[in-house]
Amino acid sequence: MPEFRLLPVQASDNAAPTDAIFIGLTILSAIIMLLVAGGILVFVIRYRRGSSASRAALPDLLHREIEMGWTVATLFSFLFIFSWAASHNLKYLAPQARFLEVHVVAKQWMWKFEHPDGQREINALHIPVNQPVTLIMNSQDVIHSFYAPAFRLKQDVVPGMETRLSFTAVAPGDYHLLCAEYCGAQHAVMRGVITVMPQEDYARWLTGQPHPENLVSEGAKLFVSLGCANCHEKGLAPDLHNVYGGMVKLSDGKEAKADEAYIRESILQPQAKIVAGFEPIMPSFSGQVSEVDLVKLIAYIRSLSIKSGEKS
Ligand code: CUA
Repeated sequence: MPEFRLLPVQASDNAAPTDAIFIGLTILSAIIMLLVAGGILVFVIRYRRGSSASRAALPDLLHREIEMGWTVATLFSFLFIFSWAASHNLKYLAPQARFLEVHVVAKQWMWKFEHPDGQREINALHIPVNQPVTLIMNSQDVIHSFYAPAFRLKQDVVPGMETRLSFTAVAPGDYHLLCAEYCGAQHAVMRGVITVMPQEDYARWLTGQPHPENLVSEGAKLFVSLGCANCHEKGLAPDLHNVYGGMVKLSDGKEAKADEAYIRESILQPQAKIVAGFEPIMPSFSGQVSEVDLVKLIAYIRSLSIKSGEKS
């Protein structure tokens, strides 16, 4: 007989706190709904037509205090839930070191994953248990939404914009991955399986995979084959060593932080931010490079700034 569960299993560190917020909000809403509905019922009966209940005005003070007390109490109850949920979400937004970074590309209608060493999967994601994971997500076409109910995670995956999810899986097993944003005719079949494995099994699984070249070296090849090197290594365009992570002076006098979003924009819309001292000669690569290739290029450009000995 299938087990009856009110909520899916709690398979990530995000699950229990999310459930607590959900149950807290449900209980609070139920209490307030009962008070309102109960009040309606009491007043409907008490002041029905022909009843002898007093209809004289309440003493002024009582009148005002009840009104204010009721309003302020519900306001603060819901502000409490808001701050509880917001602080929980902020905690998961903060970038943290030693996270296993997995790139996710959504497209009509599949999920593609790429592990740090270059192993690829489609509609299947293998991750180790008790190891913090960051999903770095992009879409190749329309808006999708990465939804893993057992992890209590849902995040839009948007074309031209990077979104992230960080979590730690806490229970080995197979879990559903769904797309939670209607994205076209085959939206319903855009799903996969997330397999959480003990760390030794994950290490074995990684080595058992065909081992394509990693992101950085594939990015380095693209950098040459797309012609980037023709300018960026010949002084016509900014040298990209030690750019990532720092600040860049722009021709309009402003500064920009050279993060992944900046590199992505500079590839797709090179005219948006021109580096001081250079001509706006770079063509747009929007539509020329696939989302997967963009990820490789960014990984390569990142690697030019990561000191030797530090793990990318
Ligand atoms: Cu992708 Cu719905």
